[in-house]
Amino acid sequence: MKATLVIGNIGELATPTGSSARRGAGMSELRVVRDAAVAIDVETIVWAGPAREMPPVEGPAPEFVDAGGRAVVPGIVDSHTHFVFGGYRAEEFYWRAAGLPYMEIHARGGGIANTVRDTRSASLDDLLASATPRLERMLELGITTVEGKSGYGLDLDTEIRQLEAMRVLDARQPVDIVATYMGPHSIPTEYKDSPSGYIDFILRDVLPRVRERGLARFCDVFCEEGVFGLEDSRRFLEAARDAGFGLKLHADEIVRIGGAGLAAAMGAASADHLLKASGDDLDAMARAGVVATCLPVTAFTLREPYADARGMIDRGLAVALASDLNPGSCYSQSIPLVAALGVLYMNMSIEEVLTALTLNGAAAVGQAGDRGSIEPGKIADALILDAPSFRHLAYNAGMNIVDTVIKRGKVVSVRN
Ligand code: NIG
Ligand code: FE
Repeated sequence: MKATLVIGNIGELATPTGSSARRGAGMSELRVVRDAAVAIDVETIVWAGPAREMPPVEGPAPEFVDAGGRAVVPGIVDSHTHFVFGGYRAEEFYWRAAGLPYMEIHARGGGIANTVRDTRSASLDDLLASATPRLERMLELGITTVEGKSGYGLDLDTEIRQLEAMRVLDARQPVDIVATYMGPHSIPTEYKDSPSGYIDFILRDVLPRVRERGLARFCDVFCEEGVFGLEDSRRFLEAARDAGFGLKLHADEIVRIGGAGLAAAMGAASADHLLKASGDDLDAMARAGVVATCLPVTAFTLREPYADARGMIDRGLAVALASDLNPGSCYSQSIPLVAALGVLYMNMSIEEVLTALTLNGAAAVGQAGDRGSIEPGKIADALILDAPSFRHLAYNAGMNIVDTVIKRGKVVSVRN
């Protein structure tokens, strides 16, 4: 066996297994190995298992990373964020805290519209400068792949600029970025009485450019009462699918309008939020193999009841957990908080939470084939925790216990 890096002296290696989302009871079936080692060749895992069974390494001696008897888990895949944006909305956070509902702020012309104004006036360099430290924080938290959405421009130039920012950042720093075009994130003032006129504009003027320039892998829509209804959402998603994009939906977050059912009908990669999704629509998602992405920190900051992740898993769905980092409903990339809320308020087991943050997150961005678990053939994205067991991930509530981040076979972040 050839190897460039070996992680040894691992007290506990914990990982989901496989190249597709784990569903239902499968979400709690981790491979847990004591006294383990992981061997990596350049950027690919070549071996993982009990240290005493590791085959000899031929050729030049690999770099050795000593895990110090601590736990190792796969890198986190944060499959739903809006991390490229201009400005902030701290005032709105305090208005909401004082009782003003999120959708009321939106209906009064605040909310996303405020970020649209600030993002339209931000240059590419401004967007790069504000997004870079967010990515640095993500890496420290163990996020090795992140999905990011446009949707704060709602015009041609700014949407393209947001997506370009992600392309530049993907090349510049270690976290892999999966870009999503989310033109239908809100109805711009230019089209305020005509959501379908805005969809016409997108399909004619924006989507083809995004596609020509290969700027996004997925398309997403805010399918919600007062934003884009089922028909407008379907029209956008059908065009996006025909143009070769993978599909995602913000579905049934505030009001149940059937977005989860649409996600199933369209064969989306994921449907996200789902706080109000109906049982029938969730069953349809399970049959269609759509990943259910829950965003507990958003529910936490909006003070909404959490999505029924327990019920979803019991129905046989594959659940992913993600941060939803954005300037409005959830200004947080705290994976530790996601994990704690998953266990404490969504009644998930810690095993299910780990699967939801890694392999199922990877599946939600169409990447379960090459990441999301520590197995031969996968990209070498792994975390050494400052803890003896992965079980500390939610137990050490709200704390970042990631010590060392290995991304594509290189140590890229070590806690001081
Ligand atoms: O996922 N729901 C719509 N989109 C975002 C919020 C965007 C914002 O408030 O800026 C979400 O919660
Ligand atoms: Fe979102």
